[in-house]
Amino acid sequence: MIYITGDTHRNIKRFMHGNAEFIHDMTWTKDDVLIVCGDFGFVFYDTPEEHDMLDWFEKNKPYTICFVDGNHENHPRLAEYPLEEWHGGKIHRIRKNVIHLMRGQVFNIQGHKIFAMGGTYSIDRSMRTLGYSYWQEEIPCDAEYKEAIENLRKHNFNIDYAVTHTAPKEIIIQMGYIPDPHDYELTGFFEYVMYECKDSVKGWFFGHWHEDREIYGGKFRGLLNDVVSISQEKQS
Ligand SMILES: [Fe+2]
Repeated sequence: MIYITGDTHRNIKRFMHGNAEFIHDMTWTKDDVLIVCGDFGFVFYDTPEEHDMLDWFEKNKPYTICFVDGNHENHPRLAEYPLEEWHGGKIHRIRKNVIHLMRGQVFNIQGHKIFAMGGTYSIDRSMRTLGYSYWQEEIPCDAEYKEAIENLRKHNFNIDYAVTHTAPKEIIIQMGYIPDPHDYELTGFFEYVMYECKDSVKGWFFGHWHEDREIYGGKFRGLLNDVVSISQEKQS
């Protein structure tokens, strides 16, 4: 099974009994995948505590934890991990079962074609320090957009799901928010992808707004604590 949840922000409790992974009394196996919609947060300050938590995932979790990057990640550190191909797309392998889904990739996981693209602008930059608590790489670069388009074209814009950190501009407006002008390139790009893939995409999941919320009848879904099963989505 594939499950998707919202930002975890280095909160290990989200992965403990009574929290995210047990919400639906799930029995997790090695074949299961949990995707976090950005701001995973466990690759940030490069402290022994962070390394211990990543080791804890590897030792204690039978399933695979995947994440797209949010704005609250240490992007240069993510880029230092080994780059591998996984289920048809590029990843950074953080631990045996902890995986960063790189931007603009289309993964084929358990028969589902999933477009993944993290990143967004930190609106709280004024309270952060460049190179310490936010990085310029939080915004996708031209090469990442180019790779995204190339990969989507390879699949004829035929994807089943999208997992991103921020959302298409139109969806942000539907949520009642004003899209941040700093993010227009990315949210506008997602809007383009949304329309190009409108005939095939069954669900689009994002985390940036820290709300569990359905838009357009649940086809677009903001996630925080909710854990959504893709199979359940298919049945609904
Ligand atoms: Fe967040």
